[in-house]
Amino acid sequence: MADGNLANLAQAREDAYSTPLEQLNPAQPALFQADTMWPIFERLRAEAPVHYTPEHEFGPYWSISKYNDIMAVDTNHQVFSSEGGITIAEPPGGEGPLPMFIAMDPPKHDVQRKTVSPAVSPTNLQVMEPLIRERAAMILDSLPIGEEFDWVDKVSKELTGMTLATLFGMPQEDRRRLIYWSDVVTAAPGQGLIDTIEQKMAIFVEYHAYFTELWNQRVNAPPTGDLVSMLAHGEATRNMEPREYFGNIVLLTVGGNDTTRNTIAGSILALNRNPDQYAKLRADPGLIPSMVSETIRWQTPLAHMRRRALQDIEFGGKTIRKGDKVIMWYVSGNRDETVIDRPNDYIIDRERPRTHISFGFGIHRCVGNRLAELQLKIIWEEILKRFPMIEMIGEPKRVYSSFVKGYESMQVVIPRRT
Ligand code: HEM
Repeated sequence: MADGNLANLAQAREDAYSTPLEQLNPAQPALFQADTMWPIFERLRAEAPVHYTPEHEFGPYWSISKYNDIMAVDTNHQVFSSEGGITIAEPPGGEGPLPMFIAMDPPKHDVQRKTVSPAVSPTNLQVMEPLIRERAAMILDSLPIGEEFDWVDKVSKELTGMTLATLFGMPQEDRRRLIYWSDVVTAAPGQGLIDTIEQKMAIFVEYHAYFTELWNQRVNAPPTGDLVSMLAHGEATRNMEPREYFGNIVLLTVGGNDTTRNTIAGSILALNRNPDQYAKLRADPGLIPSMVSETIRWQTPLAHMRRRALQDIEFGGKTIRKGDKVIMWYVSGNRDETVIDRPNDYIIDRERPRTHISFGFGIHRCVGNRLAELQLKIIWEEILKRFPMIEMIGEPKRVYSSFVKGYESMQVVIPRRT
């Protein structure tokens, strides 16, 4: 069963199946916020796996909803380009998209990616592991017992914010600013955090200024292992325009924050919804690594990535035209019943738990995937040492977005032990 309120889901299923196929439009933030997008994808996978929506706020787009088709698009960067943007939304303001390497094609993409990759290499992760563990322990030991609190704020944001501040070489006391900027990047005006695009732009100025200062410090000092130093000294990146440097900072901020944060919260939701799986995990903490992969699949923290066709191409029996927008719905590929057994179920000891599409494939496959898994693994190892149960209260508040699939807040209680 997909998660979400059952009555809403029943209504959503009725809507999805009574709407003419050609009018289906999965890219609606409200559907994701209500967690009722599932039936549309179910129908698309069955009836129109390569589907065209002619009308949308950001223009017409193709939806690719099956696992193997998504993989085929993702690994064909010669035809399906990332240049200029990787979300369905167009950037606000008249300046065009911020340049960043996730939204570039080779060769520029490749050299920039190579510049920052050492920050998340296996050797560096080994160095970071004890630090992440120490912080996870500190966060968990400071939680209230027997009292309701917001898990997203007190745990998910804290741990990922601390890790990212370390990667950037920022002082830890500035981590909440980093978290705030990350939230502002993905926030839609009028949905709580910001009211207008102008306000968003003003906050960007402050965010950019902070990182310009960090660049200036690093560029005049010997190279160190942090991301800003790597960019300031890297052959391919040291002469970047300020806007491009900032674009890459935004990429690393959002890439490193939201995704992992939402998986940490997602694990609480999934385990509360599936008490048998929670009991299995408690009985055998050796299942943590496969539980982590299963949660990353089940949550799918980035619902989609977008491409643009560089030429006309026949794909899945349809003709995609040069210039068309193509949306790869990872959230749907991860529920493809022809590739994943019982895909709507959360099963922490699946046979092949890393068979999921949440990190993408091909040249843009998530550079931080091992760091994400490491943080999830550590927080759960530390949780299980301390708390047999983290009880979710009510429904979490979901993000208003068809790109970031996650949680604004999630109330929980750690029961007092008698
Ligand atoms: C569960 C956590 C995460 C998920 C689900 C996730 C997901 C993704 C996805 C779907 C892509 C694009 C793949 C494609 O287009 O084929 C991506 C790329 C990227 N991710 Fe992650 N990510 C996660 C964690 C992280 C972390 C912790 C970092 C930072 C340290 C990070 C940094 C990046 C960067 C820099 C890229 C661009 C790579 C490129 O264009 O070559 N991600 N991620």
